[in-house]
Order: sequence, then C-alpha cells, then structure tokens
Amino acid sequence: MKVLLTGGAGFIGSHTFVELIKDGYTPIIVDNLYNSSERVLERLEKISGVKPIFYKIDVCDKKAFRAVFKEHDISSVIHFAGYKAVGESVNIPLAYYRNNIDSTLSLCELMKEFGVVQLVFSSSATVYANNTQMPLTEDMPTGATNPYGWTKYMIEQILQDFCAADPELSVALLRYFNPVGAHESGLIGESPRGIPNNLMPYITQVANGKLERLSVFGNDYPTPDGTGVRDYLHVCDLAAAHAAACKYISQHKGCEIFNIGTGKGYSVLDLVKTFETVNQVKIPYAIVDRRPGDIAECYADPSRAKNQLHWEAKFGIQEMCRDAWNWQQKNPEGLL
Ligand code: WQD
Repeated sequence: MKVLLTGGAGFIGSHTFVELIKDGYTPIIVDNLYNSSERVLERLEKISGVKPIFYKIDVCDKKAFRAVFKEHDISSVIHFAGYKAVGESVNIPLAYYRNNIDSTLSLCELMKEFGVVQLVFSSSATVYANNTQMPLTEDMPTGATNPYGWTKYMIEQILQDFCAADPELSVALLRYFNPVGAHESGLIGESPRGIPNNLMPYITQVANGKLERLSVFGNDYPTPDGTGVRDYLHVCDLAAAHAAACKYISQHKGCEIFNIGTGKGYSVLDLVKTFETVNQVKIPYAIVDRRPGDIAECYADPSRAKNQLHWEAKFGIQEMCRDAWNWQQKNPEGLL
C-alpha cells in the first residue's frame, strides 16, 4: 500500500519512512527541502535497502502535487509538511499561516478529488492551552500561545470539520510531545538550521564543542529542581506511532486524537545529567532567565494511544541521549 509522506525528508518523516518500509508499506516522499536535504534519501536507502520514491514539490503547489496523486494509487497520507519553529512563527506569522494552512487545504482538496480517505496529521502538544494539570489527556482544553501553535490548532479543526462532512474519512491527529534522538545507525537525525532552539540538539552541539555552554532557561519553576519538565520521546518510537496510526485508520472511520508521548516528565537538568552519564561528556551550563512563552511542565497521558493504537514508547531517556549523541558525532554539520 502506498503512503504519501508530505515533508517526508524531514526529521520525523525520514524516521517514519524507515518504520513504514519495515511494516511492508510503500512510502512516497513529497518534500520541498525547505527544512531538509536530498542527502537524506541515500541514507534512507542505506538503512532500508529501498530507494525512496521522491518528489521535490511544495505541497502548496497544487498543480505539481496533483501529478503525484495521478501517478500513484495512494492509500493514505501522513502530513508532516509545515513550518515548525515557535520563535520564528512570532516574527513571520503570515508565512506560517499561509504555508501551514494552505498546504493542508491543498492536500485535503486533492484527497477529495482522488478519493483518498485516510490521513495521519502531525500535530503537537503545543495545542494544549496553558494547562497546569498534568498529565495531559486528549479531552483537555486547547488553544495556543504562538502562531505556530495556532496553525496546528486550526489544522486540527479543519480536519475535524473535513471528517464531519464526509463519513468515509479516517483521520488520526497525533499530538507529539518532545521528539529527540535518532536512528541507531546515526545515518538520519535532527538537523536544525543555525543555533538550535530545542534542548537536545543544543546539548549535542555543546558536547561536540560547536557551542560553548548551555543556557538553562530558568530554575525557578514549580518543578522538582526548578527547571522545565518535558515528555521527551525517542523519534523512533514516534515513527512507530505513525505506522500504528496508519493501521488504525485503515480499520476505523472518523477523526481521533492521540497523545504521542512516554507519559514521563524529565527536567532540563535531568536530561543534562543523563546525557553526561550515558555519553561520558561534560555539558557546561549556566542558569539564565526564563524563555518567554515557556511553561513549567508538559507531559502526556498516552493511554489512549496504548489502548487504541496498541502503541507505547519503548526507548528510555538513556537511549535518547545515546542516539542523539551518536548522530551528532557522525554528522557534526547535520545533513542540511
Ligand atoms: C525544552 C525545555 C526549555 C533550550 C518545542 C515546541 C513544541 C515542539 C517541541 C513542535 C524547556 C529548556 C531549551 C535551551 C533550555 N515542537 N531549554 N535551554 O519548548 O518544550 O517544545 O519543541 O511541535 O511545539 O514548543 O522544547 O526543546 O525548546 O525546550 O533550558 O537552549 O528545555 O525552557 O523547559 P519545548 P525545547
């Protein structure tokens, strides 16, 4: 069965490609390479033994995108494509709304035109409004605090309405928590542009000397050690969740939401100390002011994914630190 991966050359998409091959699917990658590199394709072939079917297309370019639907009998789509930097979205909100919403509307219109009724969407825990009650469950209030989060929130609404209007549709909205790590081969991983916004890639660049020191954004939160607590999730576990969701939507109609997290929260200093121990490398850090917009805690109740997708995270924080460092050491400049 052919599964179309929009943004499939990216961090999550490339790991999902490997998982889908393992499960016997034929993934087709459509990516404009805005946030990824064509070099990932040769890496994917090395890992999976399969040369990826790849189209360098912007999903907003409906004419070019339609040609892919014409050429292949697509059974389902996983929609990864979208801009995803919280800070950047505050500076260029119109580009985020135009790109993330337009690409989704183009995709939905083409799915309708070609009778494709199965979709997995890459959503985010960022759509949860500033809840202080943890762990987060899928029925908790949603909202956002930045344009990136609002695009995810709006796309969830678009897809729920799309499903309500067409009972033949099957949609899974996967709310990712904090994806980190890399495939055990070290051939694919996270390649942030410029200075990393996210914690784990920042740590790995301190570890290899590219960056001097980690700034810990605040240690006065109401958490065990005062630093921010997050639900870090191995990217290979996240990839497996997409394969499980593909199976689920082939058997269930309607629109369902799933938290994809481990259900465990770790602080910034937990991650630093685990990284140092697992990889025998020192991570110098300094406590600085809080980052605007950050919350104290964010971690999942993943029981719905366990019960309905028959998925749960297998890797722990140690493997996440081990695999993130392995990738960084083998790819000091990433793959961009
Ligand atoms: C984690 C913790 C920081 C960097 C973001 C997006 C979210 C999702 C995942 C897409 C926090 C602290 C970080 C640093 C630090 N992306 N930190 N120093 O903010 O939880 O989530 O990425 O869906 O939408 O918001 O992840 O890795 O940026 O931060 O102290 O240099 O590490 O304060 O407590 P975050 P993060």
